[in-house]
Amino acid sequence: MKSIKIVGTGRALPDKILTNFDLEKMVDTSDAWIVERTGIRERRIADENTATSDLVAIALEKACQQAGLKPSALDTIIVATSTPDTVYPATACWVQKRLGIAGSAAFDISAGCSGFVFALEVAANLIATGAAKKVAVAGGEVMSKVVNWKDRATCVLFGDGAGVAIVVAGDGRSGILASNWGCDGNLAPLLYQPAGGTRMPTSEKTLREMAHTVHMEGNQVFKHAVRAMGGAALKALADAGIGPADVKLFIPHQANMRIMEAARERTGIAREKMFVVLERYGNMSAATIPVAIDEARDGGLIQDGDLILLTAFGTGFTWGAAVLRW
Ligand code: UT7
Repeated sequence: MKSIKIVGTGRALPDKILTNFDLEKMVDTSDAWIVERTGIRERRIADENTATSDLVAIALEKACQQAGLKPSALDTIIVATSTPDTVYPATACWVQKRLGIAGSAAFDISAGCSGFVFALEVAANLIATGAAKKVAVAGGEVMSKVVNWKDRATCVLFGDGAGVAIVVAGDGRSGILASNWGCDGNLAPLLYQPAGGTRMPTSEKTLREMAHTVHMEGNQVFKHAVRAMGGAALKALADAGIGPADVKLFIPHQANMRIMEAARERTGIAREKMFVVLERYGNMSAATIPVAIDEARDGGLIQDGDLILLTAFGTGFTWGAAVLRW
């Protein structure tokens, strides 16, 4: 076991709620279609002045408060995001600026919706080697600014938010029992944002073609997501030497209720153990898992010693899972 302890968690969700009924007025869709195909009822949308680092900073301050730490005491800030404030520097640097702190290592992880699981894995290994002691692990996204609001196949899916966990060394009783991660870059074109990088720099043409927004082959993503999230979760359970009945809470990446259900069924974990925030927030990419963890803690659903199973899938295609003993 990698002995770590999560000593504080926090989340930040924009106030503005966009319901499926609001979307009915924007594109050719219906509440019934969205609920049936995705399970999403509403999502939060950041205002024009809010970037990813703003949400992460708020969540980080809350998490630090719970941990009894000042943000300036952190030695590492890792932000998992696909919607950085800027191409460079990293969103984690903008978080420092927003909080008026300096000195800690601060960098981003780009692993799409798997980002929080990847960041947690990196943090645990940094702590295990002694390279870090107090790490903020964040997942934050402002998906609403990279979505094509005229494309009904994608715009109904996403939402904005951020979640943070403060991770420190454990005393041997809590930590990551087993984890795994992986990627198949050959599938990258099935879910990506084509323009704005060095492959396709922003131009009038890319703007006209909306190439700076989410491009996705939904059906393909769906198929791979079920297989990868289920597979990663099963491997983590097997490597931890535990069965589905031992798991207190199953927190999958929240992209689509049908994907989550299919992944859960593969693990054999009971339905009532799956924690769901998807209906209210939509797919917040790297933020879904840390926001869900924070809500579960607030609801008293996670106690010391509990076994929590995380599993995720995202652009890349990336995937990863972890069994935590809280
Ligand atoms: O975190 C990873 C990121 N992405 C995902 O997890 C997304 C994974 N994929 C999905 O969740 C699903 O593929 C979607 C929810 C995106 C789509 O559901 P689907 O059951 O795969 O539907 P579909 O793409 O096969 O489309 C079925 C029909 C099509 O119409 P026709 O061709 O049958 O006439 C679409 O044009 O539904 C139509 N459609 C819509 N209708 C109403 C697509 N989007 C909408 C919409 N409202 N918003």
